[in-house]
Amino acid sequence: MRKPVILITGAGGEIGHGLVTRLAASGASIITLDVAPLDASLAPLVAREFTGSITDQSLLERILAEFEVDRIFHLAALLSTRSEFTPVTAHHVNVEGTLNLLEFAQKQGESHGRSVVFIYPSSIAAYGMPDLKTKARAGRVREDDYAHPTTMYGCNKLYCELLGGYYARHYKQLSADAATRRVDFRCVRFPGLISALTLPSGGTSDYAPEMIHAAAKGEPYACFVRPDTTIPFMAMPDGVDALLALASAPRERLTRTAYNLGAFNPSAAEIRDMVLKAFPGATITYSVDEKRQSIVDSWPADVDDSAARADWGFKPAYDLSRAFETYLMPGIRQRYLSN
Ligand code: SER
Repeated sequence: MRKPVILITGAGGEIGHGLVTRLAASGASIITLDVAPLDASLAPLVAREFTGSITDQSLLERILAEFEVDRIFHLAALLSTRSEFTPVTAHHVNVEGTLNLLEFAQKQGESHGRSVVFIYPSSIAAYGMPDLKTKARAGRVREDDYAHPTTMYGCNKLYCELLGGYYARHYKQLSADAATRRVDFRCVRFPGLISALTLPSGGTSDYAPEMIHAAAKGEPYACFVRPDTTIPFMAMPDGVDALLALASAPRERLTRTAYNLGAFNPSAAEIRDMVLKAFPGATITYSVDEKRQSIVDSWPADVDDSAARADWGFKPAYDLSRAFETYLMPGIRQRYLSN
C-alpha cells in the first residue's frame, strides 16, 4: 500500500518555509516539488524532494505513479513584479503549471478513490481598483467586487481561481464518463505577507518586508512607494495557519471557492514608523517607482474577510504592533545575529 502524502509545490519559497515546518512538526508525510533544491533546514523534514518544474508533465506522471497524494498545497508561482518583465513565462508557470497540477489532482483522486484537497493561494492582486478615489471610497472590498486585475500575475491568479472552481464543480460535465470524484479546490486571497525568516523575490508588496529586513541588517532602504500607500498585510504565521485551517475545514461549511484574508492594513509611512521605533538608527527614504506604485494603487486598501471568518473560523493572531513586537523583531534579530 502506498502511504498517503501531502504534496507542496514551491516548497522552498516564503510560504513553503513556514508550511513545511508546521506540517512536519505535526507528523505529516510530505513530498515537495520546487525548481531549486530545498535549503538545509527544510530538506530533512520531507519524505522526498523533487527538483523540477510544475510545467514538466513527465515529472508529474512519475510522482503520480509513485505516491498517493491526498492533499496539495500548490504554492509555486512567479510574483507580480517579476511577471511584468516576463509575462509569457508567468502565464506558462502560473496558469499552465496550475492546470497541470489540477489534472494531476484529478487523476490522483480517480486512482485512489478520494477527492484530493487542493489548496491554492490567490492574491490581493486579483483586484483592480480603477483609481485612488475609488480605492479610498471602497474601503473593505468583497471578493466579487473590483475583480479586474491590471497585472499579468493578477490575471493569472483570478483565472486559476475560476479554473479551480471548474475542476471542483463542472469538470467534464458533458462527457459520458463525467467525473464523479472531483478535485476539492479551496483558495485564499492573500494580502502582502511578511516573514521574519525569508524575503520575497519579485513581488510588488515587497517594500514592507524589504524595509524591515534592511533595517535589521543595518542597511539603508529607499521605499519604492509613496508614504500614504495602503494595502493589507499579514504576518506569515497567520498565513500558514490560514492554509492549514482551510485545508481541514469541513467541505459542507465552505460557501465560496476563494476567500479574502486580512489582518492589518498600514500605510508605508506607518510601517516606516514601526521600523524606526524598533531600529532607531535606520535610514529609510522614499524613491517612488511610478510604475510599481500604480500596481500597488490598483490593490484595495482593505478587504472584507467575513466569509473566511464565518465559514472556517479564520482569525488572525497578529495585528501590526503584535506582529512587530512578538513575531517580526525577535525572529529577524535572531536571524541576522546568527548569520
Ligand atoms: N505579494 C504578492 C506580490 O507582490 C502579491 O500576492 O506579487
